[in-house]
Amino acid sequence: YFIEGHVPIEAINKLLKEQPADNIIALMGQFASDNRATKVDLGVGVYKNQSGVTPIMGAVKKAQALLLESQVSKSYVGLLGNLNFVQSMKNLILSDSLRSENFVGAQAPGGTGSLHQMFLLLRAANPNITVWISNPTWPNHPSMLRHLGIEFRYYRYFSEETGSTDFDGMMSDLAEAKCNDVILLHGCCHNPTGANLSVGEWDSISQLCLKNEIIPLVDLAYQGFGDGLEEDVLGLRRMAGLVPELIIAASCSKNFGLYRDRVGVALYLNEDKKVLSLTSDNLKSVNRLTYSFPPDWGATVVSTILNDSGLRADWNEEVQDIRSSITHLRLGLRDALKRATNSDRFAFLGEHKGMFSRLGLTKGQVDLLRKDHAIYMVGDSRINIAGLNEKSVNVLANAVAKIL
Ligand code: LMR
Repeated sequence: YFIEGHVPIEAINKLLKEQPADNIIALMGQFASDNRATKVDLGVGVYKNQSGVTPIMGAVKKAQALLLESQVSKSYVGLLGNLNFVQSMKNLILSDSLRSENFVGAQAPGGTGSLHQMFLLLRAANPNITVWISNPTWPNHPSMLRHLGIEFRYYRYFSEETGSTDFDGMMSDLAEAKCNDVILLHGCCHNPTGANLSVGEWDSISQLCLKNEIIPLVDLAYQGFGDGLEEDVLGLRRMAGLVPELIIAASCSKNFGLYRDRVGVALYLNEDKKVLSLTSDNLKSVNRLTYSFPPDWGATVVSTILNDSGLRADWNEEVQDIRSSITHLRLGLRDALKRATNSDRFAFLGEHKGMFSRLGLTKGQVDLLRKDHAIYMVGDSRINIAGLNEKSVNVLANAVAKIL
């Protein structure tokens, strides 16, 4: 096929279309090619320590060492992946919820992989499904849905004026969701706004799902980065006790620092054993048709940590340290911006949780920060607080004051 003179690529050229760039991924490339020594990366959601390194967690290192010693085979595990991992993740996420035994699940490559497999499952169950997503949301939500040909609509979520959630707007938009539609919710630490629902608001959404037979799908990518491993899933756990059917797509990228190892879990809760068995079979099938077997290493590292009391205690402490450091930087940035701008305009930062907040700057101002100050953030002015350090907090605050 590749003999000289034969140009198969021409045929491909005619068929392929240019793809829109993902803003977050494009920014990673732009940052990498910037030669300025003072550059600051507040783009992609990755935790960095004070030296700018995304470290491998101590518990992960120890679990990896144990596995290197004890693992005797690299043969296939199964289409649903490591079931011990799936069970342990279910316990981590839902341990207190009423119906948490009535579930099935599959290991998947990262939170994105878990979402993808659940989207495939939903589309197979109902090709006319509509998925409701928050406005704004993680840009890959609409992109993946568009790619899979699944209809989606936005619900209001965030008020630019108050810098917090617009719960009334959200509920009034979701009142239009039809029976069997899906609501995609962020489990905690909303991406990109950092503004979150209260437990009471989670309850109201659960009641709406119950009343109008809407299926909640919860994307949980930052458990432990907001208020705590338990606290961050209080609303979700209550939801699990209230609604008849619940889907969760969870990621271990952030809270286990396993970004590149692609570790995630897709869970489906229901009391009906027949539906559970059918769902499990379908999860096996979508895995088989997508990549056959999910990658084992990272998931087995996570299940090793979660099932060893010493490693789990180490991990808990490390998550707590990351969370304290993010909160410290977040409050430090709020105070530095107050000093630099002589205003309370950025006080909302103190109310937000997790890695992200949006500064509320225009696209032009974001461009200026990049061009004149080598500070990189997503075009909607989302910053990754976990990418800051003691020094860059002030660099950012002073630069923002200059461009305002
Ligand atoms: C982010 O929003 O920056 C992270 O979730 C990483 C990603 O894949 O976009």
